Amino acid sequence: MKIAILGAAGNIGQGLSLILKRELSSVKKDIELFLYDINPIILGVGLDLSHIPTTVKVQSSRDIINTLYGADIVVITAGVTRKPGMNRSDLFTINAAMIYNFSQQIAQICPEAMIAVITNPLNTTVCIIAKVLKKYGFYNKKKLFGITTLDVLRALCFISEDKEISCNNLHVTVIGGHSSVTILPLLSQISGVSFTEAEVISLTNKLRNAGTEVVNAKSGHGSASLSMASAAAQFIISLFRVLNGDKNIVECAYIEGNGKYAKFFSQPFVLDQEGVSQLKNLEPLSSFEQTEIKTMIPFLEEDIKMGEEFVKQQLT
Ligand code: LMR
Repeated sequence: MKIAILGAAGNIGQGLSLILKRELSSVKKDIELFLYDINPIILGVGLDLSHIPTTVKVQSSRDIINTLYGADIVVITAGVTRKPGMNRSDLFTINAAMIYNFSQQIAQICPEAMIAVITNPLNTTVCIIAKVLKKYGFYNKKKLFGITTLDVLRALCFISEDKEISCNNLHVTVIGGHSSVTILPLLSQISGVSFTEAEVISLTNKLRNAGTEVVNAKSGHGSASLSMASAAAQFIISLFRVLNGDKNIVECAYIEGNGKYAKFFSQPFVLDQEGVSQLKNLEPLSSFEQTEIKTMIPFLEEDIKMGEEFVKQQLT
């Protein structure tokens, strides 16, 4: 099993590689982590990781072709992060071109791989990958994921703090997308916990602003990287498990689903070896959640269109 991490010298990439190097070692099957970055320190990052004695093999390279060749899972963590005062969509100009190039390489080298992306603006970068793969005739919507696990992890932290319950006893679904009003925790569906109307509004806003809070607290030196690495690792380990034969794994990610709300929508689903095998039912929704979904749709549609238009422009 080969996992390729693009942007592995970055803060998220390094954290993710470390977690995967340690966590996946308990699985018997041969696992290779291929770390790619244009930053020359990638060779040192690989060497550094290789000194951790686990069964997971590590290779690092500045050669994207070698990195992607034969990959079962590709994780894209590369990209510029925002500075205080920026929205995720302000990253579009720089990150879109990079994602477009990666997508072309993936389409030509490992089109069958599961592809998971972290790069912002996530609501748009996923659509760029889909469109490029489609152009090459290799798009499989079941195998393309925008990682929104961090929204779920944050919701678990905030609810467990507010309600003084262990996060181990909580299960939260977060739907929509990964920016401002498109992030929606389904608080009405958490069993055993109730929220006042004011709590619902305050927790929802807190979750929507959480990324910005980290960006501001890091004062221009990046965005969430440790929690993001942890979130990405959780998602990639789930992908790894299903490819390794585990069943009934449920995850939540930004995917092209059935188009009920928007063409791409973050939602929970069951995974199997082919990717998304079954979408989970989102109903019943509270009236607050229904209204918030209506509010977010135009924003999501705009983000999706921006990605699709970008690819069209590259092709003309
Ligand atoms: C996050 O949610 O922390 C990431 O999307 C990074 C960011 O810019 O907020």
